[in-house]
Amino acid sequence: MNFELTEEQIAVQQAARDFARTELLPGVIERDTHQKFPTEQIKKMGELGFMGMMTDPKYNGGGMDSVSYVLAMEEISKIDASASVCMSVNNSLVCWGLEKYGTEEQKQKYLAKLTTGEKIGAFCLSEPEAGSDATSQRTTAEDKGDYYLLNGTKNWITNGNSASIYLVIAQTDPEKRHKGINALIVEKGMPGFVVGKKEDKMGIRGSDTHSLMFTDVKVPKANRIGEEGFGFTFAMTTLNGGRIGIAAQALGIASGAYELALQYAKERKAFNKKLAEHQAIQFKLAEMATKIDAARLLVHQAAHLKDANKDFVKAAAMAKLFASQIAQEVTTEAVQIHGGYGYVKEYHVERLMRDAKITQIYEGTTEIQKMVISRELLR
Ligand code: CAA
Repeated sequence: MNFELTEEQIAVQQAARDFARTELLPGVIERDTHQKFPTEQIKKMGELGFMGMMTDPKYNGGGMDSVSYVLAMEEISKIDASASVCMSVNNSLVCWGLEKYGTEEQKQKYLAKLTTGEKIGAFCLSEPEAGSDATSQRTTAEDKGDYYLLNGTKNWITNGNSASIYLVIAQTDPEKRHKGINALIVEKGMPGFVVGKKEDKMGIRGSDTHSLMFTDVKVPKANRIGEEGFGFTFAMTTLNGGRIGIAAQALGIASGAYELALQYAKERKAFNKKLAEHQAIQFKLAEMATKIDAARLLVHQAAHLKDANKDFVKAAAMAKLFASQIAQEVTTEAVQIHGGYGYVKEYHVERLMRDAKITQIYEGTTEIQKMVISRELLR
């Protein structure tokens, strides 16, 4: 693995860092407090090319590699994990899934608008009774000839209300279990499709997480992704790549908290010297920095393997498992270093500590990552 970044990768990293500091930082506390989706900021991210980074330029994408993508994800997540989860779902689940498996017509109609931020996408797999156990889909897509009749409820859907293009996983033939599942493109506004309640979350409060209800929604057959019965493989394959994005998000949350703690330790005095001069704090910083570097190596390894068209499933799950664990540890230590100030909103670390938790839950819990890794080891 080459540890040197190319000039292009450094430029992408710098652009994301600048954008996060100038455009995301100013309102991040307010958006978190009032659960406000960063509408204007996401629009700008689309204009700057952050919403379809890896997609082919012929669909208005950036044509970049996954390493550039994780660099940008880390920088955006240091400041605003609510904006970065929208970016991650749009890039690695929706755009990637459509580009890899969609028809040319679907790409022209949907993908070319998702890459520019003109439209936002959502990935709809989880259900009230099918979170980790994703083969147990209760949402049904009954085959009616030239359309599917979609019925059911999806839960905890990221970009639930802000999206207008939804990739919905649903069961068509229960007897075939996971081989009877389809992935359908559903547009906001299709009769019978209703966006349900917004979740009041612990973290990533600026992102809009909703339930979705489908009642006799007629979805044209032309909106099915891949062959009949391909939906579960579509979801699993797409999530394999998505985990690299969430691993980069966890890394960003950790490194954002670490940078704040480092700065604070250099400025704040206690017992007549700077915090950074106390060995207890030095040891904390040393551990935090080591964990972050180890996580970054795993995240970049997974991105490199994906770029090289090599098997990256285990590497992606390992990166997500480890980065989300250290995000818990590092953000908690960052709050500790800040003392009482760390427990109030003004200093950002308390938000980062809350945001870190979701990285151990979505796109597969910690336990699911261990399942994926061990299956790969034992295969
Ligand atoms: N990659 C590709 N295919 C996979 C796969 C993977 N990682 N894992 C399983 N599959 C395939 C299997 O090969 C099998 O296909 P075949 O029968 O053709 O061989 C099929 O899927 C079923 O596999 P299993 O029998 O092993 O299924 P299982 O029920 O025992 O376990 C699971 C599957 C790995 C636990 C899966 O259900 C899973 O990944 N669950 C987690 C789901 C998840 O991540 N949800 C997150 C929601 S999306 C989200 O969070 C987005 C957001 O908003 C941020």
